[in-house]
Amino acid sequence: MIEATRMPPTDAPALRELAESSIALIERLQDASGAYPASPTFSAYRGYSWFRDGAFIADAMSSAGRVESASAFFDWCSGIVLARSEQIARIAARAAAGDPVPDRDMLPTRFTFDGADGADDWWDFQLDGYGTWLWAVVEHARRHGLDLGRWHPALALTVDYLVSSWSRPCFDWWEESADQVHVSTLGCIAAGLRAAAASDVIDPIRLGACSSAVDDILDTIRRRGTHNGHLAKWLGSPDVDASLLAVVSPLKVFPVSQKLGRATVDAVETDLAFSNGLHRYLRDTFFGGGQWPLLSCFLGLAHAAAGLTDRAFDQLRWAASTANSEGELPEQVGDQLLDSSRVGEWVERWGPVAQPLLWSHAMYLRLAVELGVCDVAASRGVTA
Ligand code: BGC
Repeated sequence: MIEATRMPPTDAPALRELAESSIALIERLQDASGAYPASPTFSAYRGYSWFRDGAFIADAMSSAGRVESASAFFDWCSGIVLARSEQIARIAARAAAGDPVPDRDMLPTRFTFDGADGADDWWDFQLDGYGTWLWAVVEHARRHGLDLGRWHPALALTVDYLVSSWSRPCFDWWEESADQVHVSTLGCIAAGLRAAAASDVIDPIRLGACSSAVDDILDTIRRRGTHNGHLAKWLGSPDVDASLLAVVSPLKVFPVSQKLGRATVDAVETDLAFSNGLHRYLRDTFFGGGQWPLLSCFLGLAHAAAGLTDRAFDQLRWAASTANSEGELPEQVGDQLLDSSRVGEWVERWGPVAQPLLWSHAMYLRLAVELGVCDVAASRGVTA
């Protein structure tokens, strides 16, 4: 967190209020199972919880002192992974034998709240969330001095899954381009495996495999996943994608203090930011390709890590400006679309843009905590 060496901005109370109402909204909507719904109202997401969204939501709640909420989500993840131990063993064995299982037999990206695979068709094979949950649960335990033992069996299985399969092409954060190996996906996996390796709960054999997978992933990114000195959207691509910001901060695989991290933040800002709002990537047509408040918050986290506090606040303010009169943050806003001819087809298919999106609230909260806007002690839940 940034030291409070200066006066808080005059709009700090309003910014704090949205952070506090975000905590309340996430707590109110968290399912009894521990699952965080992606959005309670959006037709295509209703009833589902994603490992990706959820891991970042749990990280935000953990950073705001909501220990039990975050732990409950990690328990939910753990239950899902443990229930699939045979599937993971089969996936790892087939990969080791050089005969990997087809994509449809890999683990899905989202689950119903009771931990079942979804019945609807989805772009399900995505690896990033499994890395992100590993990273987030280890961070959570470190932050609050918790014993990781309770999650250890699921952690070990997730390590096996990722070590066996990290190099496979799969859908990205945006559930697109399944034929590519995405650099932000690799970054999430590296962050998770690195956290697991440093966690003291991994046995020596796994630890060796885990550490060498991290080395191989980082080497792959450096050799094939950069362009003009910045991280690239996928291996061999010249473009950027705003999801790469997470690899810089908070995952810190290539932190902003390193050239590659710095250059990535600069390239994303140059290509994808328009008056503080960030697009996902330049060819985005989902709901016309608007600007995503959660991405502005990732950018804000990178600025905060670089000590650029004013610029981080600009991102926080812009994200806050996207809330509706109920204080609900959307998935995206459409003031500055990349392709306005593509809005109608999505509205027809799924209805208006998701709002509230819990991941947007979580990233707002995470940045607010980082900037000292949200008083963690005051908002703290039960910490046992
Ligand atoms: C986004 C995903 C997200 C999901 C649920 C999709 O539209 O592309 O990144 O996980 O919504 O929020």
